[in-house]
Amino acid sequence: MELITRMMDGSISFDPEGRLEPVSSGPGTKQEDKIERLKEIPIFEGCTQRQLRRVAKIARVFGVAASTVLARAGEPGDEFFLIIDGSVRVEVSSEKHVLLHPGEFFGEMSILDGGPRSATVIADTPVRLLVISRRQFSILLKDVPGLTETLLATLSSRVREAEERAERLGSALTGL
Ligand code: CMP
Repeated sequence: MELITRMMDGSISFDPEGRLEPVSSGPGTKQEDKIERLKEIPIFEGCTQRQLRRVAKIARVFGVAASTVLARAGEPGDEFFLIIDGSVRVEVSSEKHVLLHPGEFFGEMSILDGGPRSATVIADTPVRLLVISRRQFSILLKDVPGLTETLLATLSSRVREAEERAERLGSALTGL
């Protein structure tokens, strides 16, 4: 089970090496701060103040050290992550890594289809994240309809990219 999942359900208070902690103070943790940060995140553009309050209420803020594994390819995943500060590295394949930055998100694929994580995601720097559990995420999609559209657009480009990569790989193999 992913570390963050265990943090969220309270079964561990922190990771044994102390690398993963809920952030209980500091920028971005107070409700009003969270709302201000949410306003800057493109997927929440167009949300009403009431919707932003709802997001701020259900999302939890976690701080992780560089090199923390946030999702592991092939494992089940129950959280959606939004980057507040720092960057993460998505290991799409052994030769392709994608860096994601503040305002970008990951973990939507497993949340949407219930399948295993499609890639391993590692903190490239110290990262501060908003984390939303699967159950809360589905409530959020109903409350904030614009969110589905943004998610679908991102998902489509990630799938398109994966297909192009598979095709290139196929051509390279048949050309051998
Ligand atoms: P999920 O499969 O839940 O967990 C791994 C995440 O990595 C995945 O959701 C996406 O959020 C992200 N991801 C997968 N492929 C790509 C890609 N090509 N570009 C950016 N992010 C990706």
